[in-house]
Parts: sequence; structure tokens; C-alpha cells
Amino acid sequence: MAEQPVGRLHDRPNMRAAANNIILHLHPVRVPESALRFTYTWGLGGTAVLLAMILATTGVLLVFRYEPTVDRAYLSIQALETQVLFGALVRSVHHWSGNLLIVVAFLHMLRVFFTGSYKKGRAINWLVGLFLLALILVFNFTGYLLPWDQQAYWAATVSTSLLDYVPIVGATAVAFLGGGPEVGQTTLNNFYAIHVAVLPALLVSLLSYHFWRIRKDGGISQATTAPGAIVRRLTTIPHLVQREMAVAVVVITAVTIWAMFVPAPLQELADPLQSPNPAKAAWYFLGLQELLLHLPPRALMALIAIVSAGLGLLPSWDRQEDTVGHYFRSPTGRRAALAGLFLGLSLPLLLVVADEYWLHRAIWLPGWPVLLATEVFPLLLTLAGMALIYFSIRLLLRANHSEGLVGLFVFIMTSVVVLTAVGVFCRGPNMTLVLPFS
Ligand code: HEM
Repeated sequence: MAEQPVGRLHDRPNMRAAANNIILHLHPVRVPESALRFTYTWGLGGTAVLLAMILATTGVLLVFRYEPTVDRAYLSIQALETQVLFGALVRSVHHWSGNLLIVVAFLHMLRVFFTGSYKKGRAINWLVGLFLLALILVFNFTGYLLPWDQQAYWAATVSTSLLDYVPIVGATAVAFLGGGPEVGQTTLNNFYAIHVAVLPALLVSLLSYHFWRIRKDGGISQATTAPGAIVRRLTTIPHLVQREMAVAVVVITAVTIWAMFVPAPLQELADPLQSPNPAKAAWYFLGLQELLLHLPPRALMALIAIVSAGLGLLPSWDRQEDTVGHYFRSPTGRRAALAGLFLGLSLPLLLVVADEYWLHRAIWLPGWPVLLATEVFPLLLTLAGMALIYFSIRLLLRANHSEGLVGLFVFIMTSVVVLTAVGVFCRGPNMTLVLPFS
């Protein structure tokens, strides 16, 4: 019988084989050369995976010192920052990675949309992705409260009250999450349990399914090649793995340096009797909070439900498959995107300013039933505005349905970003409009 090699030197090939094995469970052995082009995916899906891994690692470290009680939470964070070696850095990396993950997952969704990668059998993965995005928001939201400082406490109070507007389930969700009329010990318990146990389990399950589907759907989307054309394929090791490693090194270095120089915020201890002015939700909900200043709650919830349903149903709404793999579908699609960008940058800003100074919605439609005048009418007006944008792009740019949707999608996403920016930078005391950085 042949002797088994032992010792460190001989173990290395085995370790390499094990690593290769893991890599080839996640990736196919060969990938089309075009799928390796960095400017196709921008490494965004991989970056999201990496950030999730950084969050899991730093999160586990934080759990060793964090104490989820109203009396101890803030003090335990202070002690972590001042008495534990690298404690402040670990917390800062966790904080910024969580925020960055929202941005990266959002950008990844845009790339998937722009390349039409929700088509050709990828509808389920698109839907899974939308759930992942929602999950990441809830992850950040539940983590926000844990330091129990003023910012955390009041942002959680405002955000939970936003949840109250969700019809049917909203009040029950608030009652369950809050455990009482005010954010307190039960709220902290619930947020902590959801943050460290429920959401990680859900995220791992959904992500595993997301990756499995990518392989099942035949790898990432590609532009259709001419019949008979030969698709060049390169081996995953080393070609894809080298690129992934390069992105990982850049992301880890950037996040660490940023976290070293910009510590995670920690204000004074939460004071339930002293509300800051303005009391703002976490930044990723400020677009919503801003919209609530302009639309009545039920109209806003209906609008969110309609837009979310539209996003979920996109694969059955836009079935043109010959442009998959091409950014913005076509030159006309690119012009539609530019039109959507221009309208998204200008219209929401104009409406915010007009609503603040000139529009007096209370005196619209005198004599109409209240529900129609204050809820249904503004909702219909907003939907009509979106329909107008879609049809104008189709008519004026001679765009087809798929290209028209590109324009509408860009308009909606740009509006979300603009409204969030207004909420972050332009809302002062009593939520009045102020100049940014004033
Ligand atoms: C934690 C969040 C997420 C992670 C870690 C993740 C990870 C990935 C990875 C690694 C890929 C392979 C290609 C690439 O790197 O672009 C991918 C592809 C894909 N993702 Fe995600 N994703 C996330 C969220 C989303 C979201 C928010 C959406 C859309 C709503 C989405 C929809 C898709 C689809 C449809 C594909 C296939 C794309 C193609 O075939 O070109 N994912 N995802």
C-alpha cells in the first residue's frame, strides 16, 4: 500500500484542493469570457456577499460584549469602545458595512435591471433579490436601536410609527415589535432577537437559494450570440477567482480605513422624555418620511404597494429577451434612461418646494368626500404622473415598451434617491425645508 504523505509541506496540496472544492461548489468550472468583464457586473453581487460576511464576523464579536438591556446597552457599547482592544474599530466596521450593504444591494438591483437580467428564466431570482433588499433594510433598522443612544431611540420611535401606517398588519406589527405604547425593554429584546437570530437565519437561507438559482439559471446573464458563434470559456480558477480576490482586497481595505477615520456614531444616552427636533428616521427611511409630508399615509402605502408589485411583476411585464445582456437595451433605451434621470432629478425637487410654499392641498376639491379629496385624488394624480412619463418617453423618443420601462424605472429610482437626500440634508427643525448644510 502506498505510504500517505504527512507533515505541513504535504498538507498544502490537500488544503488547496479543499479550497478549490468550495470555490467550484459556488461557481461552474468554466465561465464565458464576457461574464468576467468587470464593467458588466461591477463586482456588486460579490461585494454584497463580502459585506454580509464582514457583518457576520464583526457581529459575532460584538455579541460577546453587548448587553441587550435598557440599563446596560449604552454602557456596554461605551465599554466596548474604550476598554476592549480594537472594540471601537470592530463596531465601526460593522456599522459602516451595514450601511454600505444597502447601497451596494441597491446598485446591484439597478445593474440587474439595466442589463435585463430578470428575464430568460431569472424571474424567481429577481423576486428573491427584492426580498433580500427588504431583509437588508430590516437588518439595519433592527440594529439601529441597539446602542440605545438618543439617535437610535428616536429614529426607532419614528420608524416604528411609520410602520403603523401599513394597513391591516401595521398595528399588529407595531404592537408585537414595540411590546407597549413606547419604545422600551420589550422593544429592545425583540429587536435584538430579530437582529441576531431571526434575520441571519433568513439571510443565509435566502442567499443560498439566490446562489443556487444563479447556477440553475445557467450562470449570470449573457448577450445572445449569433447562431454558430463560438463562446470562449475560461476556467473559474484562476480567472474569476483572481478578480473576486482583487475586489475583496479593495473593499476590505476601503471599509477598514473608512471605519478607522470615521467612527460609528454614539450620541448621549437615550432620553424618552427629550425628543430631538427634528426627530428623523434612519437615513434609508427618510425618503419615506419625506413622502409622508406630501402624501397622506394611506395614499403613500397604496403607492408603495403598487410600485413594489410593479417591481415584483416586472419579469412578466417586460418580456423582450433579445436585448438581455445589453446595458439599457439599446441607444433609445439609453436616451429613455437619461430622460428618466433628468425628470427624477427635477420633478420631485420642484414638487417638494411647491408643496412647502405654494400648494394648499386642504382647499382642493371643496365639497368632495374627504377620502376621495385627501387620499384617492393625490394617489391617482401621482400614478397619472408616472403613466404620463412612460407614455411621453414612448411617444417622443419612439421607444418600445421595454425601453419605456427603462425610463420609468430610472425616474422612480432617481426620485427615491432625491427624496432621501432631501430628508437627510434639507429638513431642519419642525421638518421645515432648509438649505443643505445650513
Ligand atoms: C444581500 C444581497 C445580495 C447578494 C449578496 C447578491 C449576490 C449576487 C451575486 C454574487 C450574483 C452573481 C452576479 C453578480 O455578481 O452580479 C447575483 C446575481 C443576481 N442577483 Fe443578486 N444579490 C443580492 C441582492 C439582489 C437584489 C436586491 C436583486 C434584485 C432585486 C438581485 C437579483 C439578482 C439576479 C436576477 C441575479 C442574476 C443576474 C444575472 O443573471 O446577470 N440580487 N446576486
